[in-house]
Amino acid sequence: QADERESMYLLSEFAKNYFHKNLLETQKGKAIGLSYFRERGFTAETIKKYELGYSLDEWSAFTDYALEKKYKLDFLQKTGLTIVNEQKQFDRFKGRVMFPIHSMSGRVLGFGGRTLLKDAKVAKYVNSPESDIYHKSKVLYGLYQAKQSIAQKDLCFLVEGYTDVISLHQAGIHNVVASSGTALTPDQIRLIKRLTPNVTVLFDGDAAGIRASLRGIDLILEQGLNVKVVTFPNGEDPDSFAKQRETEEIIVFLEENAKDFIRFKTSLLLEEAQNDPIKKAGLIRDIVQSIAKIPDNIQREVYVQECSHLLDISEAVLFSELAQILKRNQ
Ligand code: CTP
Ligand code: MN
Ligand code: MN
Ligand code: MN
Ligand code: MN
Repeated sequence: QADERESMYLLSEFAKNYFHKNLLETQKGKAIGLSYFRERGFTAETIKKYELGYSLDEWSAFTDYALEKKYKLDFLQKTGLTIVNEQKQFDRFKGRVMFPIHSMSGRVLGFGGRTLLKDAKVAKYVNSPESDIYHKSKVLYGLYQAKQSIAQKDLCFLVEGYTDVISLHQAGIHNVVASSGTALTPDQIRLIKRLTPNVTVLFDGDAAGIRASLRGIDLILEQGLNVKVVTFPNGEDPDSFAKQRETEEIIVFLEENAKDFIRFKTSLLLEEAQNDPIKKAGLIRDIVQSIAKIPDNIQREVYVQECSHLLDISEAVLFSELAQILKRNQ
C-alpha cells in the first residue's frame, strides 16, 4: 500500500514536470498555454513557482508518453491522469492549462486543469479524482508556497480559487491559500490552525461566494480560530481585483475592509431583513447560533456585547437565547 502510494507520487511528479515543460518548451505549449497565462498577467517567475503547465489538446499525448517511459497504466488510472474507457485510454486533462496541487511538504498530489474554451457547456475546471494520495477535503491549494508567510504574518487569507492564490502571491501577498471551490472542511481548517489562529476569508463578490463564506465562518469559529471577512465589489474576485491594483492599494483595501465575522454577518443579514421584524428576529437567532460555536466563554461574551450594540437589542435577551442554544447542543 505504501509502495503503491509512492508510485503514485512519482507519477504525479513526472506528470507535473511533463506539463510544465510542455508549457515552456513546446511550440503548442507556448502558443496556447503560455500565452494564456501571460494574458492573465502571470510572470515567468510565478509560473515557475507554482509549476504551472499545459496538457496538449490530443487524446492521449500524456498517457502515451508516460507508458513509453515505463509508468504503469494501473497508476495512471489510479491517479486519474488517464481515463480508461472500452480498452481506450484518454488524457483527463486534454487541452487544459494545469495547476499542480501540492502537499504541505511540496509533493504533487493532484491537478486542477482549466479549459481555454469559452463554451459554457465545458466544465471550467477539471480536477483529479479522490485517490490514495489525493483527498481534496484535506488539502489547501497554495499551502506549500504560503506556509512560511502564514506563520510569519500570523494570518492566513483564505480564497476560493487557484488564480486568486496566484495573483495575490504575485502581488506580494504570500500568506494565501484556497479551498479550491469545495466547501471548506474541518481538516482544511486544522491545517491552517497549525500555523496561525487568524483567518481572513476573501470570497468572491457574488451570491455563491457570500453563501460559501457564511458556511465557512461557522466552521472556522468552531475550531476556536478568529475569523474576519472581506467582501469584494460585486462580480470581482481576489484575482480580478488584484490585477488592476498596486500592491499597496490591495494591502490597504484588505486592512480597511476586513470585518469581524459578527459585523459581516450582521450587515449582510440586516440588508436582507430590511425593516421586517420577523426577519430581524430570525437573523438575530442566526447570529447567536454562530456565537454559540465559539468554544471560548470570554470570547463568546465579547461577541454578545458587540452583537447587542450592532442590532440594538439587549444583552440579556441575547444571553438567554445563547444559553438555550448551548443547552440544546449539549
Ligand atoms: N472550481 C472547480 N470546478 C469548477 C469550477 C470551479 O473545481 N467547475 C474550483 C476551482 O478550484 C476554482 C474555484 O472553484 O479555482 C473558484 O471557482 P471560480 O470562481 O468559478 O473560478 P476562478 O478561480 O475565479 O477561475 P477563473 O478566474 O479562471 O475563471
Ligand atoms: Mn513573490
Ligand atoms: Mn466564484
Ligand atoms: Mn473566482
Ligand atoms: Mn477568477
